Amino acid sequence: RTEIKTVLTDFDSRIGQEITVMGWVRAFRSNRFIALNDGTSMNNLQVVVDFEQLDEQLLKQVHFHACIKVTGQLVASQGAGQDVELLAAKLEILGGANPEEYPMQPKAQSMEFLREKAHFRMRTNTFSAVFRIRHGIAYAVHKYFNDNGYFYLHTPIITGSDAEGAGEMFHVTTLDPANPPRTEDGAVDYSQDFFEKPTNLTVSGQLQAEIGALALGKVYTFGPTFRAENSNTSRHLAEFWMIEPEVAFYDIFDNMDLAEDFCKYLINHILEHYPAELEFLDSRIQKLEQNMPKEQRRAMGLIETLRFVVDNDFERITYTEAVNILRSSKPYKKGKFEYEVEWGKDLQAEHERFLVEKKFKKPVIVRDYPAEIKAFYMRMNEEQEQIPGRTVAAMDVLFPGIGEVIGGSQREERLDVLKARMADMNVPEEELWWYLELRKFGGCPHAGFGLGFERMVQFITGMGNIRDVIAFPRTPGNAEF
Ligand code: 4AD
Ligand code: MG
Repeated sequence: RTEIKTVLTDFDSRIGQEITVMGWVRAFRSNRFIALNDGTSMNNLQVVVDFEQLDEQLLKQVHFHACIKVTGQLVASQGAGQDVELLAAKLEILGGANPEEYPMQPKAQSMEFLREKAHFRMRTNTFSAVFRIRHGIAYAVHKYFNDNGYFYLHTPIITGSDAEGAGEMFHVTTLDPANPPRTEDGAVDYSQDFFEKPTNLTVSGQLQAEIGALALGKVYTFGPTFRAENSNTSRHLAEFWMIEPEVAFYDIFDNMDLAEDFCKYLINHILEHYPAELEFLDSRIQKLEQNMPKEQRRAMGLIETLRFVVDNDFERITYTEAVNILRSSKPYKKGKFEYEVEWGKDLQAEHERFLVEKKFKKPVIVRDYPAEIKAFYMRMNEEQEQIPGRTVAAMDVLFPGIGEVIGGSQREERLDVLKARMADMNVPEEELWWYLELRKFGGCPHAGFGLGFERMVQFITGMGNIRDVIAFPRTPGNAEF
């Protein structure tokens, strides 16, 4: 076959042959050179056209992002910048893109504008690179777990439980919101709802993953999760993908080892398999930073950062140590920062950034958080004298430029301790009867974590906003496409 339907790479063996290719026009220079790309790689194929040979009216339709089909002879290129070029003998417009109407332009356009054009933005170099890498990371997730003896567990998207107890849920109902059936005392009558009880979109597959771990040993989930938190930041989505390994017989230290190994594997996979995309994204950032003041620029280039992370151990500290470090560090000592540090309060993003970017200058795993600020299922640590309050075996992995990429813990496997904790935190036992039975029958120590997939994609691609690493972002007020 001479017709190459998709792949515009690997041409060396075809030099001298007549071939047919299809793709989107990235540029048309000097009425002679078309840069054609079909989305498979960073490589454009240079197509050389001759106005004397081809129909002029046809060539006038070769606009930015038009889709074309070209047949011609593939030859070694005379010019610099590419190895081969295609001498067009026949050209066909598969789909025009009239520049008077087409919203995309062959020049730098703002990220905000491109978000509104999510149906076209994947045709750009930046977004096609990001989405190829995103695919690569997803593939590496499955490969890592498969190669290490884990089983992929599909946990439900619609559920009756709130795993995080944070109450930030999207409700799922078939009742008419304007006029729901009511019981005699005026409450909404959920017995008439589809599931005969209130349900929501899952905020985490963890509780169900624990069921899997206590039967299959090592499991992981990889699916969409939903949070109705009203945070309009560059790190939050209302719909994001989470990867949640859960492992029987693991404690918090095994869990930290797994988290570090897993993160490094994902980054290494992209370094190895997507060098051209990374180089492009790296130089894109350098261009963006050219006019920025020095303190706003990255300390290291993108590829340099990724290599540094895989080549160095993550720093490991306790929450209490983190608080002490922050308190004895200049900006906090002087009280210059918005959020003061107080044992027992959650670390703010600015605290995390200080630890990761200023103090240690590498990924940091913080563990043993105060029990009061963490979820009910985390394992209570035995009392330690020097700590003001109770702590749990929780861990957060913090990354430079991103903050928290992973949250996890060893789980409370002791039935009595768990029950007391649920009572403390007003988590109703009736709703989680099965979770309690998991402790009552054949329970064991176990641990796991959740990696925010988009945050990892952000770290690896260097994209500044999480909305630019998911094809169709869901954020407050935004559910287009
Ligand atoms: O820290 P979180 O809330 O932990 C859990 O949900 C646990 N049940 C996980 C587990 O132990 N199996 O969320 C885990 C990670 C965070 O570290 C963050 O990377 C990401 O999920 N995440 C978000 N990513 C994008 N948008 C949001 N709104 C996110 N909320 C959390
Ligand atoms: Mg968290």
